[in-house]
Parts: sequence; C-alpha cells; structure tokens
Amino acid sequence: MSATPHTAVPHSLDGPVPMTLPRLAEKKRLSEPIVMVTAYDYPSAQVAQEAGVDMVLVGDSGAMTVLGYPSTIPVSLDEMLMLASAVRRGLSTPLLVGDLPFGSYEASDEQAIATAQRFIKEAGCDAVKLERGGTSVQRARAIVAAGIPVMGHVGLTPQTATALGGYRAQGRTAEQAIAVARDAIALEEAGCFSVVLEAIPAAVAEEILARVQIPVIGIGAGPATDGQVLVFHDLLGIYDGHVARFAKRFADVRAHMVAGVAEYAAEVRSRAFPAPEHCYSIDDHQLAEFRAGLT
Ligand code: KIV
Repeated sequence: MSATPHTAVPHSLDGPVPMTLPRLAEKKRLSEPIVMVTAYDYPSAQVAQEAGVDMVLVGDSGAMTVLGYPSTIPVSLDEMLMLASAVRRGLSTPLLVGDLPFGSYEASDEQAIATAQRFIKEAGCDAVKLERGGTSVQRARAIVAAGIPVMGHVGLTPQTATALGGYRAQGRTAEQAIAVARDAIALEEAGCFSVVLEAIPAAVAEEILARVQIPVIGIGAGPATDGQVLVFHDLLGIYDGHVARFAKRFADVRAHMVAGVAEYAAEVRSRAFPAPEHCYSIDDHQLAEFRAGLT
C-alpha cells in the first residue's frame, strides 16, 4: 500500500517555493532574516501561509494558548499531533516543525525516535524541535540519525522552567551564558539544522552566533539572530494570559473578536439578527401545501 503524501503541492509553479533545509541555510548565508511563527490549527496555518512566513512551529505553547492549560507540561503527544495535523492541512510552503512535548522524548533514544516519527508520519511535519542541552543533545543526535531533521531550543526552556527558577531570562551570569552557548554548540554538533535561543541577553546571542554555523532563530534574544519566532496568539493579541516582555503585539485581534461576538449577542437579543437577507424563502404554493399537509 502506498503512503499518502502529507505535503500539499503548491497551486502554481509560479507561486511560492516550499522552504527546505538547504534554502534555510542559504538564507542564513545571504543574511536574509528568517521568519518563523507558531500555529496550532487550520485557520492560523492558512494565515501564516498567506503572510508568507518561512517556517511554522506547532509549539507546545499551544498547551496554553489554545488548550487552556496553565503551562506547557500537561499537553499530551496525541493532543500535539492533532494540532500539528490541522496545521499541516492549512500549509503548503513554509517548513513545518512539530514541538516534542514534555515527557515524550527524554527517557531514551528509542522513545525520542518513535515520537519524532509520529510527528513526521501521522502529522506530516517536516522536522521536530526539542528543548534543552544535556541529555537532549543525545536525543537530537539519535533522531537525526533516524533521518528526521531536528531543531534545538536553549536558553529559557519552558518545559523545565521550574528547574530554571521560573519563566525568566537565562544567561545573565557568565556561568549561565557559557552553559547556554555550550548547549547550542553541542546541538549543532549533534546534527540539528537550526537552534532557537529563547530569552537571553542580546550580547550573549551575538557571541553564540559567532560560534555556530546553523541558522539561529531568536525569541527574546535580540536582533543578531538569523531569524525571529513569535507565538501567533501573542503577536496578534489573541492570548489574554501573561505575555513575555519580548512578545511585541502587532494587532489586537482579541478585542475585535470580543466586539464581534458582543455585537452578535446584542443583535440576537434585540431580534435585529437574523434579518431577511439571512433567511431562506419558500414558494407560496409550497408553503400552503406544507401547511395543509401538517393538518
Ligand atoms: O512552544 C513554542 O511556541 C516555542 C517557541 C516559543 C519557540 O517553543
């Protein structure tokens, strides 16, 4: 039986070209900023596609932004796969990266490979992301050896935020900064195609950039990184929970959504909605027959 390809073919040969790992590396070589955004469902994927981003991350931040958990810890692998599959259906050209959730890859190389394979096979992701250095470096190496591209993530790693002293910037002491730099370098050596630096001083990010060759994507790591990633709900102003200092709001979509639903509620209550243009008609003769048929 042949497998159904997950990646949609672009509609036109003149249209945008799918992002690949070589194209990503080329963008870095040419100093072209790489744009990455998170997405968690079909409409947000379509928005990312239309906006022309380079990479989409189905982040475990979706645990909080769309599933309502208090942190990223509780989200299950099956929940992440469901979100990633929906994103896949709305996306054709950006590189799609699935975030391995807490507890789905740390125990052994075999567990990490099996989880990564599910993101590729069941959800149609192009690559996976995992958090931390340390034992995650070996997990990244194993997944890469299994033929799956891996993105690393160091600095503030929300899955282990408790051990890091909470959701706070990392690498603000020389000792911490050296540890973050070593983790990034180790992930590159393990074969990662890219690494995310989260919430570290811009000057520390600059030093790391000078020491790694793979594309570095920043979130709260200053302007020197090869690209930036932001959480969809933060940048559009949809999420009403705590938003980090580095998350610039480019729109206030939540206010528009609340206003729209409130107006709908008011019109239902005042009976202004539905108006005649929202109703279906029936031929007078058919209506008369219908009424007669009821008696
Ligand atoms: O889960 C997520 O959205 C992330 C990004 C913030 C990098 O890991």
